[in-house]
Amino acid sequence: MNALTQDSRKASERLGLGADTLVIEGGKPLHGTVEVRGAKNLVTKAMVAALLADTPSTLLDVPAIADVRVVTGMLGAYGVNVTNDDAGVTVLDPANVERAHFAQIDALAGESRIPILFCGPLLHRLGEALIPDLGGCRIGNRPINFHMDALRAFGAVVDKSYEGIRLTAPGGLHGADIELPYPSVGATEQVLLTSVLAHGTTELRNAAIEPEIMDLIAILQKMGAIINVEPNRVIFVEGVDRLVGYHHRAMFDRNEAASWASAALATRGDIFVAGARQQDMTTYLNVFRKVGGAFDVTEDGIRFWHPGGDLRAVEVETDVHPGFMTDWQQPLIVALTQAQGTSVVHETVYENRFGFTDALIQMGADIRVVPGGTETPTRRVPRRPLEQSAIINGPTPLHAADIYVPDLRGGFSHLIAALTASGTSRVSNLGLIGRGYEHFTDKLASLGADFRLED
Ligand code: EPU
Repeated sequence: MNALTQDSRKASERLGLGADTLVIEGGKPLHGTVEVRGAKNLVTKAMVAALLADTPSTLLDVPAIADVRVVTGMLGAYGVNVTNDDAGVTVLDPANVERAHFAQIDALAGESRIPILFCGPLLHRLGEALIPDLGGCRIGNRPINFHMDALRAFGAVVDKSYEGIRLTAPGGLHGADIELPYPSVGATEQVLLTSVLAHGTTELRNAAIEPEIMDLIAILQKMGAIINVEPNRVIFVEGVDRLVGYHHRAMFDRNEAASWASAALATRGDIFVAGARQQDMTTYLNVFRKVGGAFDVTEDGIRFWHPGGDLRAVEVETDVHPGFMTDWQQPLIVALTQAQGTSVVHETVYENRFGFTDALIQMGADIRVVPGGTETPTRRVPRRPLEQSAIINGPTPLHAADIYVPDLRGGFSHLIAALTASGTSRVSNLGLIGRGYEHFTDKLASLGADFRLED
């Protein structure tokens, strides 16, 4: 069994999916309503923030996804009592934080990238942190140098050991002056979670300002932190002596919302995404409209549908917020295989995030990936060295295939491709999709998809 299949099986088991393959009869439009709850990329960090408090925190709208289960297990290993109900109410009590057994955290850390964010809170609470090798989607190198450089600036001492990375703070953690080489989401969160209890003031330049980060800042403010977000990606933090628990409703998962929107477009369907908010998706909505999709924003969510006729080719470039998110391109590319003309998608955030297109090509898509990226006259930002471009010629009918999910977002695009294709497809490594998409098989059933689970 290869490493991906092992990761997938673990996630499937955590979620009780009962199978790791979906057999899909494609070619039917998806119609109906799905609800999105808290964002994976906020909820998991908000759970780590609870470690910083003296009193319990309550987080609402926590989705039933494997990444949440992994963070719950990690927090449990450190003595945080976490309870979660079906309604998504999670209570995190950090009263008895203690050192964890290495074997316990090592068994969990390989399944997610969130453990890296335990560094600051553990240094504050226990004076040391041991971070084993990290997991997460295999979409490039995913180095942690920005994280380690930032932690050193706060006064942490970083030692590599055979078990992983060991951090200590012999002189305590103090405010720091940090400029990130790139507005990294995770490194910005690392700085936030470390600076709030550090002595003195921290200035962070070139910070990420994704809505999930703004929601984390709101949570930290509820806990007693003093954080100022200034123009031009500058964040100032005045350290405080103690933080208390929070009560917070997590922001909705805009990556999941965009995924269902692209599914509506690719399958010529009509999906109401309850819980989606326009303000955090305006860049996606512009592209959706340019491709030829229709949407209607209501108080309760956003309806996305294919209005008939041909879809249009577009050129898109992934970017940090407020740009087009790297997590939105994979499901959109399936819809672009059905658009009239040549679309170009430039991936500028990760160096290897087009691997999922191999399966689409197997299913009949005309996609060429250009390592190093292409230059075209409409480029908005200068090329980053990491860049790749995908050139998609459409429309091409998709036919069924047996495919293997490579990562979370690529996996969702495989589901959409199988639902769009004529014939019977088998999509394996389903657990990887369950890392970030809650109850996705139930949601597919409610949208009228024709499928069965197979072990
Ligand atoms: N980078 C470094 N060094 C570092 C950290 C990042 O070179 O120390 C590079 C990365 O290799 C990448 C770029 O900076 O090329 C951006 O990475 P970033 O740190 O912003 O990403 P992340 O925090 O690891 C989060 C999400 C990703 C999402 C990105 C971009 C979580 C758990 N993950 O990753 O989500 O794509 O931000 O928005 O929040 C997903 O949900 O499927 C997913 C991969």
